[in-house]
Amino acid sequence: MSYPWDESRAEFSTERDVPRRGRRAAHALLYAKSSAKLFDYIPMEHAVMMQLRFDGTLGFPGGYVNYHENITKGLNRELEEEIALKQRNFFSDSDYYGTWIHSYMSTPLVDHFYVKEFTEDEFKKIEMQTLQAKDWGGETMGIIRVPLDCIPQTNKPYGPMPHFLLHNFVGNAREQLVKTIVEKQLVEVENMQHAWAK
Ligand code: GTP
Ligand code: MN
Ligand code: MN
Ligand code: MN
Ligand code: MN
Ligand code: MN
Repeated sequence: MSYPWDESRAEFSTERDVPRRGRRAAHALLYAKSSAKLFDYIPMEHAVMMQLRFDGTLGFPGGYVNYHENITKGLNRELEEEIALKQRNFFSDSDYYGTWIHSYMSTPLVDHFYVKEFTEDEFKKIEMQTLQAKDWGGETMGIIRVPLDCIPQTNKPYGPMPHFLLHNFVGNAREQLVKTIVEKQLVEVENMQHAWAK
């Protein structure tokens, strides 16, 4: 597997050479299988973590990677700061999932995105520990589970997911969320297509 920070691939995202025309960041999606049920009978299937950010938008935990800082290390540093992630749960290079470039204003942001599955127990522990994070109440205003259900209910035409996708997301976070949900099959693909279309 080649990474976008390999010299050969990226004109502005190599590991040691900070992008000439942009900044580097790394964010992470944590998920787990879930035994939770909505109203005691609709299985939630999976738990996916996002956060409410200080700027009012929804996004994934993570942040800017410093000049000369290894991207995976920078990610883990930010995850420790924002959600108090412990070392045993740190991400590795093999959790790398893709790179999104967000071109707003004049400086593109190169965002390296990581995805990792946890056990349900570990995920719950991580959730509880987030309250102890250094940046809690500052940068991180709360972590949430994404309401994944797309199945129409009798009194609601589309299920919760389309409504969730109408929120304000930072950068490319919405696309990162949808791509991961579809590719990892965290909900039925057909339901997701329905949600996305709405
Ligand atoms: P500072 O302490 O202000 O440096 O914050 P930080 O290092 O935690 O950075 P932050 O998480 O805000 O991420 C840096 C930039 O990446 C933000 O300004 C957003 O434009 C963008 N960003 C934030 N979260 C996400 C995300 O989940 N996905 C994507 N694609 N971009 C994001
Ligand atoms: Mn109830
Ligand atoms: Mn951040
Ligand atoms: Mn941060
Ligand atoms: Mn930071
Ligand atoms: Mn910070």
